[in-house]
Amino acid sequence: MFRDKRYLSIDYVPEELPHRENEILRLASILASVIRGTKPSNVFEYGPVGTGKTAVTKLVIRKLSQKSEQYNIKFGFSYVNCRFFRTNYRALIKVAEDLGLRVPKTGLPTDVIFSMIIEQLEKNYSLFTIVFDEIDWLVKFSGDDILYQFTRLNSDLRSSLVSIIGITNDVKFREYLDARVLSSLSEETVIFQPYNQEQLYDILLQRAKLAFHSNTISDEAIRYVAAVSSRDGDARRAIDMLRIAGEIADREGSNIVTIEHVKKACREVERNLIGEIISSLPPNQQLLLLSIFYLARRGERKITTGHVKRIFDDFATKIGRTTVTLRRLNDYIAELETLGIISSTIVSFGRYGRTRIIRLEIPPETLEEFLMKEEVHKEILMESILSRG
Ligand SMILES: Nc1ncnc2c1ncn2[C@@H]1O[C@H](COP(=O)(O)OP(=O)(O)OP(=O)(O)O)[C@@H](O)[C@H]1O
Ligand SMILES: [Mg+2]
Repeated sequence: MFRDKRYLSIDYVPEELPHRENEILRLASILASVIRGTKPSNVFEYGPVGTGKTAVTKLVIRKLSQKSEQYNIKFGFSYVNCRFFRTNYRALIKVAEDLGLRVPKTGLPTDVIFSMIIEQLEKNYSLFTIVFDEIDWLVKFSGDDILYQFTRLNSDLRSSLVSIIGITNDVKFREYLDARVLSSLSEETVIFQPYNQEQLYDILLQRAKLAFHSNTISDEAIRYVAAVSSRDGDARRAIDMLRIAGEIADREGSNIVTIEHVKKACREVERNLIGEIISSLPPNQQLLLLSIFYLARRGERKITTGHVKRIFDDFATKIGRTTVTLRRLNDYIAELETLGIISSTIVSFGRYGRTRIIRLEIPPETLEEFLMKEEVHKEILMESILSRG
């Protein structure tokens, strides 16, 4: 089935990125100003998940590295994924290390590290580009101190230039950035739009040709992946789905990937997504889900907020957690609704008033699988089932 599965891995950056020609050109021409001897503008890249921001940036940086020798430019770069380097200090060390500096394990004051960085830049680089990918993580976690300092660095440099690329998929990012940092960071802005169905098809086709043996995946199957992924225009999810469909076909001993395999892959991707959502919920929301699950499993036809509250309080008491007010519980319910895990409707019972009926929007088996990963949830359920006799 697979010729080489690596082409479907998230780290692989293809030599060509279909439908990102304009963004590549924009970014390349911004950075290329170094060839004319002027400082490239700092760039702010924004776009939803999986729209090629990281891939485009890595590709352009790679191309510039290759070209720079030809132009006799001493080019270097640091790629900082702020999801992993989310404190100012750690991000700073990452940049220093990419410059070839060694910072002692015991640590150094920031201003000392900056002086070392400046010295190293003057000595070895005509242009050094720093990419802060998923930059919102850094700023949310630890503020924008070093970003500020990096944007000021050029005034301390004589023979070297620093340019910065900030990347995010967080629409609200601009709100928690200092105005000065924001304006120097976004001298240029490149916006990435979600991919549409045809664009996703082209992207998938390119990957499929590399990753699968010929004639082992039907064109229909690729089109199907493109169609279901076009809802959110996320190329990562689309490629993932293609890989999973291939794995499923492989497991089933089929010699071709069909639409049926894609449909199964779709369900699997959906399942994983639900899993991620559930495991990242705060404990009380998980307990609420457990209560709803318990009632659903008990065969309760109409699950009301009152029901849920009684079970929730009972569960909470069992594990020594405090119970919550009805109002708070309603907040939790609203949050789970926003996530699409449950839905609710208000039903009127004539003179008995109105009540909210809650429904699970995801398969109970999936919910059970992920809730039962917590040992304590298992114990609660076991005990409740036993005590009912
Ligand atoms: N135009 C394209 N052609 C081929 N592959 C692409 C294209 N755009 C994105 N991809 C692939 O899709 C995946 C996701 O892209 P990428 O990581 O660049 O997204 P992103 O915009 O950085 O998303 P996030 O905001 O989640 O970081 C990667 O594997 C990338 O190689
Ligand atoms: Mg990215």
